[in-house]
Amino acid sequence: MADIHERRIVVLISGSGSNLQALIDALNTPALSQTRIVLVLSNRKAAYGLTRAQQANPSIPTAYLGLQPYLKANPDRTRYDYDVEVAKIVVKEKPDLIVLAGWMHIMSEGFLDVVCGEKPFDGEEKVQKPIPVINLHPALPGAFDGAHAIERAYEAFQKGEIAHSGAMVHRVAKEVDRGEPVVVQQVEIKEGEPIEAFEERLHKTEWEIIVKGAAKMLDEVAPIQSSRRLMDFFSRHTPFK
Ligand code: GRF
Repeated sequence: MADIHERRIVVLISGSGSNLQALIDALNTPALSQTRIVLVLSNRKAAYGLTRAQQANPSIPTAYLGLQPYLKANPDRTRYDYDVEVAKIVVKEKPDLIVLAGWMHIMSEGFLDVVCGEKPFDGEEKVQKPIPVINLHPALPGAFDGAHAIERAYEAFQKGEIAHSGAMVHRVAKEVDRGEPVVVQQVEIKEGEPIEAFEERLHKTEWEIIVKGAAKMLDEVAPIQSSRRLMDFFSRHTPFK
């Protein structure tokens, strides 16, 4: 079989990696075909997501770069420099797409300057074509930007301020959680249910939309071979399901 170009994804994590796991499980299925996760990078050494990557079959290369250790080892460097360093590790894998799946850091301009090709990533070498970056956020566009969105939405529902919440995959722009939405999905909050029940429903939604969001972005920037696309289309749209 001709060497078909596999689309390359780098995933950034900080925690359990359940969204990374959703991507791993979708690889080489019609939902995310002809795609490979070429690196999982964590800013926390203990992130279970690193284990998920190592236990994948085939296993996925991992890397770790913590902010505090970096700053301690480079006292003259800043948070901006750290984000440039993160971007360099990522860009060297030549990804078609970068996915922030629970990356618990606000990406500063340092990261985006490198992945957009404004700053060199190796000597003077710059990215030729800006690499798209998507982020998963457990709220609707503009609703609960930043941290603790799940808890804040649940509180707002208890006060009658909102009727439901949601989750989204959005492009990463320089303003936190404000990039253009790629996939948006409402998530119901049921009257009287504990926050755990809402959170579980929300995470299940995230596992779906992170795959949909990655596939949608890849189809935009690195569409698969037409023949394979037709096969996938028909496998997704079999009328006799
Ligand atoms: C997700 O809820 C994501 O929305 C938030 O962090 C969580 C990551 O979960 N940013 P996991 O590490 O993928 O399990």
